[in-house]
Amino acid sequence: MWEWLKNTACEAMLLCEFTSGALSNMIDSRHAAWDPARTRAWVEVDSDAIASNTASLSKLLSPQTQLMAVVKADGYGHGAVTVASEVVRHGATWLGVATVSEAIELRDAGIDAPILVFGAVRDRHDIRHLAHHRLCPTICDIDHGREVSDQLGSLERPLDVHLKIDTGMSRLGTSASNALSFWETVTQLPQLTISGIYSHLATAESLDESTTWQQYNRFIKALDRLPRLQHNVAVHLANSAAALRFPRTHFDLVRVGLAIYGLSPVPLSSANVELTPVLQVKARVTQVKDVERGAGISYGHQFRASHGMRVGTVAIGYADGVARGLSGRIDVLVNGTRARQVGAITMDQLMIDVTKVPSVRPGDIVTLIGRDQSEQIRAEEWAAASDTIVWEVLCGFKNRLPRVTKDAPNANAASTGVTNGRFALLDRDRLHASSP
Ligand SMILES: Cc1ncc(COP(=O)(O)O)c(C=O)c1O
Repeated sequence: MWEWLKNTACEAMLLCEFTSGALSNMIDSRHAAWDPARTRAWVEVDSDAIASNTASLSKLLSPQTQLMAVVKADGYGHGAVTVASEVVRHGATWLGVATVSEAIELRDAGIDAPILVFGAVRDRHDIRHLAHHRLCPTICDIDHGREVSDQLGSLERPLDVHLKIDTGMSRLGTSASNALSFWETVTQLPQLTISGIYSHLATAESLDESTTWQQYNRFIKALDRLPRLQHNVAVHLANSAAALRFPRTHFDLVRVGLAIYGLSPVPLSSANVELTPVLQVKARVTQVKDVERGAGISYGHQFRASHGMRVGTVAIGYADGVARGLSGRIDVLVNGTRARQVGAITMDQLMIDVTKVPSVRPGDIVTLIGRDQSEQIRAEEWAAASDTIVWEVLCGFKNRLPRVTKDAPNANAASTGVTNGRFALLDRDRLHASSP
């Protein structure tokens, strides 16, 4: 029995080696440079595009306004360390993350820039990490401020914190009408220094600007009540949409996520800025076959060939982040041509109609999002096809897809030249002059 098992295992291993070797050879012969990260399916990140988007966005800002690149959720699915390393070299002076562990990943990669943690950190271990890793937390209300100060114990130097004012998002923060007591109480807490105050816009991309200006006015009123605001306290409000549309919302700092990744939540014509999509999603064709008219394709046979068809099987599926809900609703690019995805998207594979692309062979690269010759598929197409927002599309790609960086930068070499995140003094007159 043991001999039989041993022989069968040996045969299986030989077969595996043969087939994986054969596949590598096949890919090798059709595509000169073999790269282990590009054998099945991958996300390609264009670091030049990150650099140019960051530089373009920086140019939109006045010299008093700094740029925070939002790199939470693993840099919107692009790889936080790659993105952070690139943005700090091209004009971003702050980084924004959601959690302490996201911030620690950046510190561990040698990234030295000031980091604001957007989420309300309440776990006592996380609170201690804040001080240890020089992270700036968001304080959402008085009780939270007390909790953080207590948990920090005694520090050599108080921890810089940013206060969050809720002007209408109804998520984190203290209402604008209670801003003064919030400010005064946190000012007294021994382990904290207020170095920023901010709010978040709920509808900055909407055609109807009324809610944005209502939030803006509440924010201005709250700031106006605060004593000693001009002492190096960073005021910030704008996300990508507001940074692109409303210079009046820029204050000392803008917190830009989506636009760094080359996508815009608003039409760009008015903003006078060029953005290049950073992310592409690619996968290999693993088989090409002809199916007869009437053949069912994939689970459930919801799709049937209406004519004799040539079908390509592609090595990517919903476990990689291509949502099953997109089945039959997206195109892909193969050899520079659009091809329709057909049948249910399965966990690891999907099928495409390549009847009109007879040149397709196993090993060819399929572009699901990105550019192939003169054709392009943007993440916005996927968002429209699955009735969601483009932010969710970007964050949806799973870890099984290696992130492959064109011109990979050396993350450890990242340096901002800015280590303390000091701001231009906020000029109260400027605040009032800009009120709409
Ligand atoms: C507090 C905060 N600021 C800024 C941003 C960046 O938003 P956007 O990607 O629209 O620029 C986010 C993203 O959700 C956020 O939560």
